This record gives sequence, C-alpha cells and structure tokens, in this order.
Amino acid sequence: MTKTGNKTVNIHNAVIPVAGLGTRLLPATKSQPKEMLPVGKKPIVQYIVEELHLCGIERVLFVTGRGKSSIEDHFDDDPDLIRTLRESGKEDLLEELEYERMGLHFLYTRQRRQRGLGDAVLCAENFIGTEPFVVALGDSIIGRHEPSLIVKRLIEAFEVHQASCAIAVEEVPIEEVSMYGIVKPSGEGEVFEIGDLIEKPRREEAASNLAIAGRYVFAPDLFEAIKRTGYDHRGEIQLTDAIRLMLREGKRVVGMRLSANEKRYDIGNFESYFETFVEFALTDPVYGRRLRNHVKELLGENL
Ligand code: UTP
Repeated sequence: MTKTGNKTVNIHNAVIPVAGLGTRLLPATKSQPKEMLPVGKKPIVQYIVEELHLCGIERVLFVTGRGKSSIEDHFDDDPDLIRTLRESGKEDLLEELEYERMGLHFLYTRQRRQRGLGDAVLCAENFIGTEPFVVALGDSIIGRHEPSLIVKRLIEAFEVHQASCAIAVEEVPIEEVSMYGIVKPSGEGEVFEIGDLIEKPRREEAASNLAIAGRYVFAPDLFEAIKRTGYDHRGEIQLTDAIRLMLREGKRVVGMRLSANEKRYDIGNFESYFETFVEFALTDPVYGRRLRNHVKELLGENL
C-alpha cells in the first residue's frame, strides 16, 4: 500500500459503547454491566480507558443504557475515599486509583433502546461533530501484561492512508469466524486495504480469518452511513454494515493487524470471561505466584 501523505492528525475523542444487554453473561450481568466485571484487580472498562489515555485520547464519551450507572460512579472523583485512604496511610491503594487523576474528561449519553452497535455509535454524533474519532468496544481488552498502543498506530494509519476508517484486526481460528466481523483483505502486510467485510459470516462465506478486534478510527461521515444502514433480521444496526456501505460508496477502509505481543480479550461469554480472568490473575505481579501454586495443587487433585 502506498502512503498518500504524512500530515499528522490529532484525534483526541473516543467513544466507548457500553449499552449492550450482556445477555450471554447472565446472571452475572442481571444488575451490573458486563463492562464492570472484574478481570484480575480492575473492571474491564478501566483497562480500556487506560489504554486510550496512553494513546493520547483526552475526551471519552460512554454510550450507556439502563443499569449502567456504576460505570459513571467508577470514573467519578471520590474525594472522601481519597481522604480516607490518605489518612490511614494506604498510599499503595491510592496508586491503584491513579486513573481518577489521568486528566481525562468523561461524558455520558444514553442509547435508549439496544438496537445494535451501529445505533450505539450514532448516539455519539452530537458529541463528535465534524472531527475524526476513535471507537473502542467496552467489553474488549487489548494487550498482554501491558496496555496496547494499537489505537495510536491506527490513528497514524488512518491519516497516512487518508482513510475514512481504520480497523484493528486479529487472526482467529477459522472455525470461529461466525462469531466475529470478518474482513476481506486486498493486500498483505501489517496495514492493508479492506475490500469487503461481513458480520458473523458462515465459515464458507468468510473471505479470511481476520476478525475485527474492537478498535476503530472513523471519519465523521460514518454517521451518515449508519443512518442509511438498515436494521438486520434481529432489529439491530450493525456497525460492520455501515462500514460496508462506506466501502461501496468508494471510501477507503484500511485494516491493521495486532502485533505478535498484542491479544484481544473479547469478554462476551463465560468461556472467554473465565479464560481472561484466569490469565490476568495468574500473571498478577503480586498474587500470581500463590495462585499458580494453588491451581497446580487443584489440578494435581484431578479436578
Ligand atoms: P455485544 O455485541 O457483545 O452485545 O456488544 P451485548 O448486547 O453487549 O451482549 P449480548 O449479545 O446480549 O450477550 C459489544 C459492545 O457493544 C456495546 C456493548 O455494551 C459492548 O460493549 N453495545 C452493543 C451497545 O452499546 N449497544 C448495543 O445495542 C449493542
């Protein structure tokens, strides 16, 4: 792929959709958002906010829904708690709340009916206005032992290739393609043009095993594309379908592979939630060793 310019863009706004019902994680999500489930010591959405902060994001809009107010509480300043911790000398715990002092601005809007990811992103239109922006899914952690800089790299690719959309992708086993949005790459390499993409294809329909990995950069013309995208058979507007419309209208969409040390943890069901929790807990610098020994003992008992 040829580079078409080297103007740097400053993208400082991100949208985190967190309005989904999380039905695959019931009953854990009956009265708490799946995005607030803990993975190791932190709720999922805290990993995402920390990752975005590292990538230069300054303002985050959460698209929330009913029953999601604990997300607002989590990112709210809590001077009473800070004072109590300080007075009782618990400086180590204060560091754990560092995210409160990152200087990020948090804003909230509501998706009133859960009509799909495309519809959730459309709720951000007034906030975004005419600037390009990042979308990061509220239930997907990217990184392994440390936060990923994929969003920063996506922003660079978006600008260098003068794209309307840049999408992070990762390879998945071919038998799992029907769980993801799958892209059709026209080209090799870390960054490539996307020729087409399809949401949850059957295995024989999938043009590759490259799955959309929950991080995107968009030009604001995405909103018009979402408005012109119809509802699918489940009554949802798929973000993937809106991107497909942009492609059909001649817009440039590029994909970027996650690097070898990056992994996407898509916490949509109990299988992936358990696996992710266990991986993060086992590698925790403080508690991991003891837990590893405990798990070895349990496995020795032929659980
Ligand atoms: P999912 O596709 O996993 O859907 O959402 P879901 O509704 O949360 O979960 P299930 O299928 O009922 O188990 C991916 C991300 O998009 C957000 C979710 O909150 C999650 O972070 N989302 C999804 C919305 O904000 N609104 C929607 O209408 C759908």
